[in-house]
Amino acid sequence: MDKLKGSARLMIVSDLDHTMVDHHDEENLSLLRFGALWESVYCQDSLLVFSTGRSPTLYKELRKEKPMLTPDITILSVGSEITYGEAMVPDHGWEEYLNNKWDRNIVLEETAKFSELKLQVETEQRPHKVSFLVDKKNAQGVIKSLSEKFEKRGVDAKIIYSGGQDLDILAQGAGKGQALAYLLKKLGSCGKTPNNTLACGDSGNDAELFSIPGVHGVMVSVQ
Ligand code: GLC
Ligand code: MG
Repeated sequence: MDKLKGSARLMIVSDLDHTMVDHHDEENLSLLRFGALWESVYCQDSLLVFSTGRSPTLYKELRKEKPMLTPDITILSVGSEITYGEAMVPDHGWEEYLNNKWDRNIVLEETAKFSELKLQVETEQRPHKVSFLVDKKNAQGVIKSLSEKFEKRGVDAKIIYSGGQDLDILAQGAGKGQALAYLLKKLGSCGKTPNNTLACGDSGNDAELFSIPGVHGVMVSVQ
């Protein structure tokens, strides 16, 4: 974040799976081409931000599998974690902010009452994110009753359904869009609002990226 003296010429905020990373491109041609372009034309005066649903564990796995650049900022776990640089230094201010009206235990207690919800692997359960798998046919009904239950118990949660299978329950302030808004505010407060910001994504958890004021968007279609 402190890499630039002034405003970034461009800040790209990109989702990874099926956006930055094409899992059908076995030779990684697109990823390598993007990497070469970024390094030769942009990296000196621009910021690269990865924004993924993956936890730090699964993000690091992807980095081992694919020839990816090291971003300036990484937004992880559907915008519930933000880290800086290669060392992935966590933004503790963001974590503290997310604690507001969030009670992970109540979320676990209420979700346990739904047999349609199958908990995702342990690595994807994070301090401000609890994630499940749920069938498309049950998703809308479950989301509706869960919202009511959370409201009754005074938990302010955001429920996001992605890719026709993943149900994330996040602290209300979290999400990829809110994390981007926070970063833009932070950059703005030191007079470094990027000249152009481009958000890219393809699924449910990316939707809120496209509602942040002043941000251009690329929505990747399903092939
Ligand atoms: C990633 C995460 C998973 C999440 C999904 C959708 O696949 O690993 O936990 O549910 O993104 O946000
Ligand atoms: Mg994606």
